[in-house]
Amino acid sequence: MSTNIVWHEASISKEERRTQNKHSSFILWFTGLSASGKSSVANAFARTLFERGNQAFVLDGDNIRHGLNKDLGFDEESRKENIRRIGEVAKLFVESGQIVTTAFISPYQADRDTVRELVAEGEFLEIYVECSVEECERRDPKGLYKKARNGEIPNFTGISAPYEAPVNPEIVLNTVHHSIEECVAQLTAILTEKGLI
Ligand code: ADX
Repeated sequence: MSTNIVWHEASISKEERRTQNKHSSFILWFTGLSASGKSSVANAFARTLFERGNQAFVLDGDNIRHGLNKDLGFDEESRKENIRRIGEVAKLFVESGQIVTTAFISPYQADRDTVRELVAEGEFLEIYVECSVEECERRDPKGLYKKARNGEIPNFTGISAPYEAPVNPEIVLNTVHHSIEECVAQLTAILTEKGLI
């Protein structure tokens, strides 16, 4: 634990930033198996928001693991730390007035709940990107399921490591039955109805 440090209040508040942006700021936390479509939907939706003139940013598992979290692996403790750090970063984006879409497998409910508790009520929306392991394995865009089946990748989510589907997600998007565009349209409709965008 750090000692001798004192929190410094920001000169610009979250509320002032939201007022200037003319929209709220919150986290859209996409969770689902590898190849379920998290990144595709998160990126396509961020693009939609950007074109509407909203402030939006994507935090993506594969990208964050190239930099900030390149010291972390895929055992349970590392995944927990991965999500803890992303949660803190996502919180900063909320403070900065942005709508942040995150695309991490985030397989453990407890870790996702930890992020939810980090921010204010209503600032965290859990979005389950539902897609069966069979379909993810059929897509296998990075060839990782094949490697996992061959025993070349240990602790692979859905094959040799668990995935805990959300218990009570705000939103469920199914990428087996719906295209990326349809998921974006569903999301836009739901968030508009909630008065968030
Ligand atoms: S998480 O479980 O810690 O949330 P994260 O979303 O950051 O995972 O990273 C997942 C990505 O890492 C996958 O899309 C895949 O490309 C890659 N990856 C490499 N090894 C594994 C593994 N053992 N399990 C799952 N994904 C893996």
